[in-house]
Amino acid sequence: MNKLLFFILLLTTLSNAQEPILPIPKQSEIDHPKAKLGQELFMDTRFSSDNSTSCLSCHNVYEGGADSRDVSLGVGAQSGDIHSPTVLNARYNFRQFWNARAKDLVEQIDGPIHNPVEHNMDAKRVEKVLNESTSYQEKFQEIYGVQKILYSHFVDAIVAFENALYTPNAKFDKYLRGEVQLSEKEKEGYTLFKQNGCITCHNGINIGGNSLQKMGTFKEYKTPKIFPDRSFITKKESHKNVFKVPTLRNIALTAPYFHDASAKTLQEAVETMSHFNLGIRLSKEEVTSIVLFLNTLTGDTPSILESH
Ligand code: HEC
Ligand code: HEC
Repeated sequence: MNKLLFFILLLTTLSNAQEPILPIPKQSEIDHPKAKLGQELFMDTRFSSDNSTSCLSCHNVYEGGADSRDVSLGVGAQSGDIHSPTVLNARYNFRQFWNARAKDLVEQIDGPIHNPVEHNMDAKRVEKVLNESTSYQEKFQEIYGVQKILYSHFVDAIVAFENALYTPNAKFDKYLRGEVQLSEKEKEGYTLFKQNGCITCHNGINIGGNSLQKMGTFKEYKTPKIFPDRSFITKKESHKNVFKVPTLRNIALTAPYFHDASAKTLQEAVETMSHFNLGIRLSKEEVTSIVLFLNTLTGDTPSILESH
């Protein structure tokens, strides 16, 4: 995106009569039995080649849904090549993965299952583990009415669980619904967030997750390592350092930040963003206010995790 386009977009976002950020609905239709089964699969290390790794290993759904390590470790304690993003509210992303290579959550799962440094499995081996377990056989029989469990059932249940991983009732959402007030500083942070143009890329229900943008729109961003950015998919030079804009929901819980995990605190992430993606330097107080605003984006723990 060039600078002129950036300002046109900013003006359109701000002049839109609607609030540029939408609250997460308090309640979403989910298939509870499938989601509970999906939760069990999500947390089961038997779906990895050395029984060491589950989805939970790299996506701590109890605490923000991401990984507090810079890069995650999968089977054989091998490290991945990019920081693990959150799975909370991933249902609201327009596509999945940092470079948006998967069109939805169903397509996304093939990634970690087959990745040699994550689960290192294939569909046949997943089916073998499932069909050798009497407990899974009973559950899939009851929910899907099948004798032989297929990989597609496994995927379907995990996606049902992921769809249940939404986090309503953040203080900011309550504010949007007129239920609570923000403090002066939090409100100031939101105003700065809009006025300075963060809102151009971080907007909508997920406050991100709905577009691909360059890391370094205003100042070139350099990393010592090469990451699988959008150019890996499109082979276009102009897509170097282009990533899916991450959601800012529950951002206070998901340090470290960025695809390269280079920012260890929210302060640092906000400073880096304003420098590289807006070409401005914010004062310490302004950064603090924005961080206070970002802290209001932490929602409820997904109710599926607390239910039976
Ligand atoms: C070894 C660590 C690891 C394991 C195990 C793992 N993931 Fe991930 N996950 C990652 C990383 C790293 C990414 C980002 C990869 C990328 O974008 O190229 C990711 C991305 C995702 C995304 C996309 C989120 C977004 O905003 O784009 C979803 C959804 C997801 N994983 C779900 C799962 C599920 C479901 C499982 C289990 C079947 C799983 N993951 C297992 C590390 C892991
Ligand atoms: C031009 C689009 C754009 C603008 C403007 C922008 N961001 Fe971002 N933001 C991104 C992209 C892309 C990433 C991912 C960058 C990466 O990982 O290298 C990101 C990442 C972040 C992250 C880290 C998220 C995570 O999970 O790692 C935070 C926090 C953030 N932005 C806050 C802000 C704030 C605050 C502003 C305004 C000062 C802002 N952004 C302005 C596109 C933008």
